[in-house]
Amino acid sequence: MQPSRVFVVGSGVVGTATGMGFRAAGNTVTFIDISVPRVCDLRAQGLDARTELDLASEPDSFIFLTLPTPNAGRGYDLGAFAAGSAAVGRALAGSSARHTVVVRSTVAPGTTEELVRPVLEENSGMTAGDGFRLATNPEFLRAVSAEEDFSHPWMTVIASRDPQAVAQLRALLAPFGGEMRTFSDPAEAEFVKCAHNIFNATKISFWNEMWLVAREIGLDLDPIAATVAKSAEGSINSRYGIRGGAPYGGACLPKDTRGFLGYSDAIGVDMPLLQAVVETNERLENVVKQEVEAAGKAASGITTA
Ligand SMILES: NC(=O)c1ccc[n+]([C@@H]2O[C@H](COP(=O)([O-])OP(=O)(O)OC[C@H]3O[C@@H](n4cnc5c(N)ncnc54)[C@H](O)[C@@H]3O)[C@@H](O)[C@H]2O)c1
Repeated sequence: MQPSRVFVVGSGVVGTATGMGFRAAGNTVTFIDISVPRVCDLRAQGLDARTELDLASEPDSFIFLTLPTPNAGRGYDLGAFAAGSAAVGRALAGSSARHTVVVRSTVAPGTTEELVRPVLEENSGMTAGDGFRLATNPEFLRAVSAEEDFSHPWMTVIASRDPQAVAQLRALLAPFGGEMRTFSDPAEAEFVKCAHNIFNATKISFWNEMWLVAREIGLDLDPIAATVAKSAEGSINSRYGIRGGAPYGGACLPKDTRGFLGYSDAIGVDMPLLQAVVETNERLENVVKQEVEAAGKAASGITTA
């Protein structure tokens, strides 16, 4: 494949790993960062690093947005992300080439189309899909092994309304291997990344809550957890327990979740996560019940006021 021109906007943990990975694969990479010390640091490593994106004399390129998206309490602070996107929009305005802007940061579903797209359009005077391409390609790397993870991904997710952008990114990312999944709605890819992280956080809190119980009764959790990681069907079977709108039922899960809550009460260990699991299931049972009733009424021609 022909080497590509790549810009990385936001050259921190993810941006650096992204740029280094593309560079090692033979592409021409420029790192952009508003932090002067960061740019100096990258230059000292012999890399092309700049404080501003200038596309005036550049050919078609990929512009990866690896800008920070910290939380502000409950919610994302997208200030830096919007400012960086606006700068990319202004740079697009000065270019006659066809660039592909790729959101690689972790953002809430809808951000690419509801924030990035209008900011780029407003600042470039162009329309997405016409003057430039827009795509989402979330990063799954771990900070401790960023460059290694970038170069050997388990999963690559690409989404764009523009099939050409998906095809281009497929070609750019295919040499790194791993499973690749594509979507036509950027919100799907954004959701994948959020759900990926939240599932991981939930699993970690789950085992920490179990650790509190095990500690209380003098058991070592680690060999127990290692066994359950293999024994629990839901941990290893992707056909089981990952569909929405399907609360658990049957003889075991309702009984054992409630039973264990009573057990933990008795030994004095609070289990808010397990309590929430039970409450979520009850909520879903109600949702499904109401939907079945509504569908039944609709089928029999009864309308509700
Ligand atoms: N760190 C991780 O392990 C990891 C893994 C996967 C995804 N992510 C996501 O990737 C995104 C980036 O995270 P990170 O850890 O690389 O952040 P980071 O803080 O390490 O790097 C962000 C960089 O962006 C620069 N920056 C800020 N505003 C800018 C602007 N307007 N223009 C240019 N540069 C600007 C900062 O100076 C900084 O160097 C976030 O959405 C994060 O959630 C992080």
